[in-house]
Amino acid sequence: MKSLNEMSKITVVGAGNVGATCANVLAHADAVNEVVLIDIQGNMAKGKALDMWQQAPIDGYSTRVVGGDDYTLTAGSDIVIITAGIPRKPGMSRDDLIATNAKIVVSVTENILKHTKNPIIIVVSNPLDVMTYACWKASGLSDKRVIGMAGVLDTARYRAFLAEALDISPKDIQAVLMGGHGDTMVPLPRYTTVSGIPVTELIRKDKLDAILERTKVGGGELVNLMGTSAWYAPGAAAAQMAITILKDEKRIFPCCVRLNGQYKLKDIFVGAPVKLGKKGIQEIIKLRLKKDELALLHKSAEAVKEVADALDAMKLF
Ligand code: NAI
Ligand code: 2OP
Repeated sequence: MKSLNEMSKITVVGAGNVGATCANVLAHADAVNEVVLIDIQGNMAKGKALDMWQQAPIDGYSTRVVGGDDYTLTAGSDIVIITAGIPRKPGMSRDDLIATNAKIVVSVTENILKHTKNPIIIVVSNPLDVMTYACWKASGLSDKRVIGMAGVLDTARYRAFLAEALDISPKDIQAVLMGGHGDTMVPLPRYTTVSGIPVTELIRKDKLDAILERTKVGGGELVNLMGTSAWYAPGAAAAQMAITILKDEKRIFPCCVRLNGQYKLKDIFVGAPVKLGKKGIQEIIKLRLKKDELALLHKSAEAVKEVADALDAMKLF
């Protein structure tokens, strides 16, 4: 990562709903010199980038936004966010996307590395945990530099539902969840607080349980409403991770990371709380999970492993 007075650059691959939203949030944060938006639909990426650049005088940011289908634009990126791939439609699970999205994620990763030697990559494409694994395998990068975005979004949904139920600001709710980005994800109410107060002191158990269940299927709720998957919160979540890394903030977020012994899990990408900074994953935080919590995490990891095995069977690398 560069020092503050050097140029900083973030590339977002996939200029669809999530990618364009992410680029727009990044531009508004005004924390990076350049945002590059890449898509196989080159004119669409170029047009959306031009539109965002023309928004700069109105909203008052200096971040230069450019776009297209030419990977030379991406040269020297500090961070690359991969959102390329198809989203799910009603009736589909995230895992149904693997055949199409694995090939896309692998080819995008290879193209990025032709022009940037050692980027930090944030993967958003689904099925998230396995696409993060695919990107890591295809990239040959350190496992500290390939990170999946899911936990920031899933905890945001959980925090939003809690804020509504408690009639308080979502800003004051802190939460962590672990496991895969799917219906087996593991929210951890023991680690949920509202301005330092354990949430269990503020809400009845049955109400909290209902919120935890709604969180687990939060992505599906939006697919059913819109006919495609969500983009505002997902785009903002990936942008938040990128800014934290770029600014070397060392904030702790739940992210999809390669566990290699932590939580008695080995060589698998799943969600866990991590410290994010300029080197990518600076630390995997080890929570003292109770037996039942650990069992749920292992069940979730098994579900991810099944999809990872399907990816390995595709023999893409
Ligand atoms: P979208 O269909 O709006 O956009 C995807 C874009 O990727 C399209 O513009 C398409 O042209 C582009 N694309 C396809 N192949 C490409 C390639 N080889 N190179 C460059 N660009 C390529 O889809 P949306 O809604 O933006 O979702 C993108 C992905 O993110 C999906 O896989 C979706 O499931 C996933 N997602 C993940 C979330 C998470 O929490 N991790 C949350 C929301 C979506
Ligand atoms: C979501 O959770 C579909 O993964 C996407 O909205």
